[in-house]
Amino acid sequence: MKYFVVLLLLLAMACSVQKLPAPGEQQVKQAAKRFPQVTLAELTKGKMLFEQNCNKCHKYHKPEEHTELEWMSIIPVMSSRAKLDQVSQSYILKYAVAFAKQPDGNP
Ligand code: HEC
Repeated sequence: MKYFVVLLLLLAMACSVQKLPAPGEQQVKQAAKRFPQVTLAELTKGKMLFEQNCNKCHKYHKPEEHTELEWMSIIPVMSSRAKLDQVSQSYILKYAVAFAKQPDGNP
């Protein structure tokens, strides 16, 4: 019985640690279509900020859930809900855009 409780606890912990995708060169290219000067460091910072601020009121909405256009309107609203400054907001937007769903199914 004790083991069962421990197992349940472990399971709950595993579920609460949600992983967001880490950006790489491919994502830099993707994000550069909208933000030509974007760097991998900025995307990495965006991931960190996303993880720190975007699951407080709901679970993470993963970047690939929305298209770039959707993110362009969602991020400003959510950033103000999360009380983020402009700089943090821009990192999060770049990160989301880098992994955004492709509207026409083409990369
Ligand atoms: C202060 C609370 C709060 C914080 C912080 C917050 N959100 Fe939200 N978010 C909401 C609420 C409320 C909704 C609407 C209900 C829902 O979809 O869960 C929502 C909905 C969303 C949606 C769905 C929008 C749609 O049109 O389908 C996305 C995507 C989202 N949030 C992303 C984010 C991101 C990214 C961050 C971090 C910058 C963030 N949220 C931080 C409260 C918050």
